[in-house]
Amino acid sequence: MAATRQMWAALVFKIFSMICSSGAASYTRNVSVELNPGSLAPPPGGDLLHVRAVGDHDTLHFLFCSQGTPALLLVHTNVTFSNVSVDWPRFLSRNGSGSLRVEPASSILSRTGLIFSRLLEYNDVNNTARVPLDLFPPYQLRNVTWSAMELSGAAARLCGAVAQGSICLHLTVFEREGRDEIWPRLLHTANTSQVAVQLDGLSPRSERSRFFLELQAVGGVSPLNAVEVHRSIDDEFTPSVFKVSEWTSGDEGSSADERGFVLWKQVAYRRSPPALEDASPCRHSNPQRQSDRALTEAGGLALAFFTAEDSVFGLNISFGVAGEPFYNATKFLSWTATVGVGLPPADTFSPLVVAIMAVGLGAPLVMLLMGGVYMCLRKRSAVTGYEPIN
Ligand SMILES: *[C@@H]1O[C@H](CO)[C@@H](O)[C@H](O)[C@H]1NC(C)=O
Ligand SMILES: *[C@@H]1O[C@H](CO)[C@@H](O)[C@H](O)[C@H]1NC(C)=O
Ligand SMILES: *[C@@H]1O[C@H](CO)[C@@H](O)[C@H](O)[C@H]1NC(C)=O
Ligand SMILES: *[C@@H]1O[C@H](CO)[C@@H](O)[C@H](O)[C@H]1NC(C)=O
Ligand SMILES: *[C@@H]1O[C@H](CO)[C@@H](O)[C@H](O)[C@H]1NC(C)=O
Ligand SMILES: *[C@@H]1O[C@H](CO)[C@@H](O)[C@H](O)[C@H]1NC(C)=O
Ligand SMILES: *[C@@H]1O[C@H](CO)[C@@H](O)[C@H](O)[C@H]1NC(C)=O
Ligand SMILES: *[C@@H]1O[C@H](CO)[C@@H](O)[C@H](O)[C@H]1NC(C)=O
Ligand SMILES: *[C@@H]1O[C@H](CO)[C@@H](O)[C@H](O)[C@H]1NC(C)=O
Repeated sequence: MAATRQMWAALVFKIFSMICSSGAASYTRNVSVELNPGSLAPPPGGDLLHVRAVGDHDTLHFLFCSQGTPALLLVHTNVTFSNVSVDWPRFLSRNGSGSLRVEPASSILSRTGLIFSRLLEYNDVNNTARVPLDLFPPYQLRNVTWSAMELSGAAARLCGAVAQGSICLHLTVFEREGRDEIWPRLLHTANTSQVAVQLDGLSPRSERSRFFLELQAVGGVSPLNAVEVHRSIDDEFTPSVFKVSEWTSGDEGSSADERGFVLWKQVAYRRSPPALEDASPCRHSNPQRQSDRALTEAGGLALAFFTAEDSVFGLNISFGVAGEPFYNATKFLSWTATVGVGLPPADTFSPLVVAIMAVGLGAPLVMLLMGGVYMCLRKRSAVTGYEPIN
């Protein structure tokens, strides 16, 4: 019986995968990687990564840099020949607003920047996971010394030394639709990138320390000023995580083309590689408009590209809830987000889940039918069997 069930599951799974893959041929981009565009020598203070993802009629420019405050920029243009130009002397002065441009400027559809501004720590004396007023002095990520960028394909890793441990930012850009191998196994498309933040081996300043991360987003036409929380389906990809946060523009008037977003499942992991039992919920504060000085304070990449007219919004992502182990327990935390343009990818029931449901609902029916037929046949043979002999 179990074997037939498996056969059914395999068959239905195959049919559904065929329907899914033929129905939506995924959009692909040609991805190429360039370090320090237009510079003859590696710049002091950290590399500037440029990933160009060319589509049929558009280009996504991903820029990633640890100069100043580490930041990721995503610029979407409606041509396939747009390029990045950097005025290096001004860029390196860390005071060069407008020293990095994407040209032609008229082709730009959307501009989104994500700034990793600060790492904060507090002593959770009563194990409530509520951020108190008195925190330990925050770690300003612009003051951290970052190692050289490690590249592998269209992925890059930046690590900085903090509190005898490290904070690492891991960026991946994708050519096509897919799903990450490791939890939280986020969905990605050719229009998104993924950033993972890892806090590895930091020495907490109290036994009951918890950490949280301050992020800032800069947007062009539609600033990222609101977070929508959606319920997600509890599937086999991220078991026991029910909520997805989508940090995007609350401006209903803007078209999907003009929008950027940052999306994450409300979970962090206390070990690497992540396992189910190491999952820990994460929470976020409401986006707050940051002061006019935010860009100047961020410096580096964000200041080089954005101008004072672009508004900056910030929020905090905190890890852990009341009663959960403190950072000290594993001395590790990882959190992953998707950064992209257009409409955020949404989870649907996977072919596997659909197949299981189909089998779950279908198999009893089939058994009922087969049972009915069997009973009929038996009855008939019984009737014939009892035919009078004489
Ligand atoms: C973009 O600019 C760089 C130099 O800044 C140049 O090497 C490259 O060929 C240009 N690419 C395109 C597609 O124009
Ligand atoms: C990607 O590159 C291949 C080969 O270089 C080319 O045939 C194809 O048209 C390109 N696709 C896009 C979307 O630029
Ligand atoms: C920054 O640049 C402006 C003009 O571009 C200049 O007036 C100012 O002195 C510079 N500040 C620093 C700290 O270099
Ligand atoms: C690109 O967008 C700009 C402004 O949105 C528009 O003026 C231009 O015609 C567009 N170009 C193409 C090739 O679609
Ligand atoms: C911890 O709990 C004690 C007793 O309930 C209370 O007096 C104290 O203010 C609490 N500390 C914090 C940081 O909440
Ligand atoms: C970070 O560096 C700036 C100067 O670059 C300095 O003014 C500030 O005090 C430093 N902050 C911390 C927390 O070290
Ligand atoms: C990605 O962007 C392209 C160009 O804007 C669009 O045609 C395509 O549908 C998008 N794909 C997804 C999966 O959002
Ligand atoms: C937690 O940190 C304290 C020092 O702050 C240390 O003595 C203790 O052993 C740590 N606990 C664990 C489980 O690592
Ligand atoms: C993050 O939390 C800290 C401490 O509570 C607070 O000072 C800061 O303003 C918060 N940042 C944002 C962007 O809300």
